Amino acid sequence: MARLEAAAICTPGLEPVCEAELIALGIKARTVGAGVIECKLTTRELYAANLWSRTASRMLVRVARFRATDFNFLETRAEEIPWENWVGPGIRPEFRVTARKSKLIHTEAIAERLEKIVSPGHGREVARDAPVQPFVVRVDHDLFSISVDASGDSLHQRGWRTETGVAPLRPTMAAALLLSTGWKADTPLLDPFCGSGTIAIEAALMARNLPPGGERDFAFTSWPDFEPGTWGSVKGVAANEAREVDFAIEASDRDSGAVEMTKANAERAGVADLVTASEQVVSHLSGDPGVGLVATNPPYGKRVAGGDLRPLYRRFGAALRERRPQWQLAMVVADPKLAKEADGALRPVGRYGHGGLKVQMLTRQGRAPADRPEQPTTAPDDPPATS
Ligand SMILES: C[S@@+](CC[C@H](N)C(=O)[O-])C[C@H]1O[C@@H](n2cnc3c(N)ncnc32)[C@H](O)[C@@H]1O
Repeated sequence: MARLEAAAICTPGLEPVCEAELIALGIKARTVGAGVIECKLTTRELYAANLWSRTASRMLVRVARFRATDFNFLETRAEEIPWENWVGPGIRPEFRVTARKSKLIHTEAIAERLEKIVSPGHGREVARDAPVQPFVVRVDHDLFSISVDASGDSLHQRGWRTETGVAPLRPTMAAALLLSTGWKADTPLLDPFCGSGTIAIEAALMARNLPPGGERDFAFTSWPDFEPGTWGSVKGVAANEAREVDFAIEASDRDSGAVEMTKANAERAGVADLVTASEQVVSHLSGDPGVGLVATNPPYGKRVAGGDLRPLYRRFGAALRERRPQWQLAMVVADPKLAKEADGALRPVGRYGHGGLKVQMLTRQGRAPADRPEQPTTAPDDPPATS
């Protein structure tokens, strides 16, 4: 069967988890650069990757690759591309161009030429506010690589997260945090700084084996060569693979607005019955003598105003040692020194750019009762809100 030349694009740093997810879907995938995983896949696998990848930001399919050093040659080669496969009536092509070390370096002029070639080919003018089909054009040393974006909106836009708080975590990062811990989606999970509920909802989707993209549209469904039968089958398999879950996924936050957002987002994601959201300061964490995973994204101290956050991180660490002594811990933070205030055994698993900040993911394994560290175990009460 003919395979498409494609690429999964992810946040730089997430390549190992993203590549592993694609391989688990049966796709031939290989990281070739920062945030770029090359894939050879069938149409069915392209649809499945869009629906199932929890960490990719978008899926691109290569439509042409050629050298051009002047606009005449660019236009000649662009006219040979079967644009009608991806741009249907009423759809506006949009070209996102980057260029380096090439004769044609003016990205807006390249985009304009390409738009003109695609639109008159369909014998129509398309309204400026028409739905968009994005194309990604990379020009490097005069080599043009043109790809059609199969996803459309970035895949971190899951469809269910219409409400967010002050410093929301991208769902792709939340999923990467969970995947990086080795969590098998088979033990309880808690996010005690849940904000809009991103980590808990991603965890619930993983636990139920529901696809992250089940509540959104994808650009490929508007392609004239779209295969509805194949797509129906991919979605049908997903519906049949959903699992029952017999453990709790807890989300809590000191802010009642955040708790309401978590409930509303969980409802839209179809996991409201699985995610328990409650208003609670972290020092009043409930106890659980069993095992589980605390996965969280506490206030950063950079994006969220709040002065010195060390006491908050210490209270969090003390509450965990006292009330969830055997639980594994995973955090996304901007400042790893702050994370160590909570737990000195945390180890970094990766660094990423997120919303203009550099963030780190850190984890430590769960502890057997005898492994308890010699640190204070009393979690004093939280003072008034600091974030
Ligand atoms: C960085 S935000 C979490 C964002 C979340 N991951 C999301 O995607 O929406 C940190 C959250 O911690 C909460 N918070 C701050 N201090 C707290 C405390 N002492 N106890 C519980 N929650 C607290 C804030 O209300 C805020 O919602």
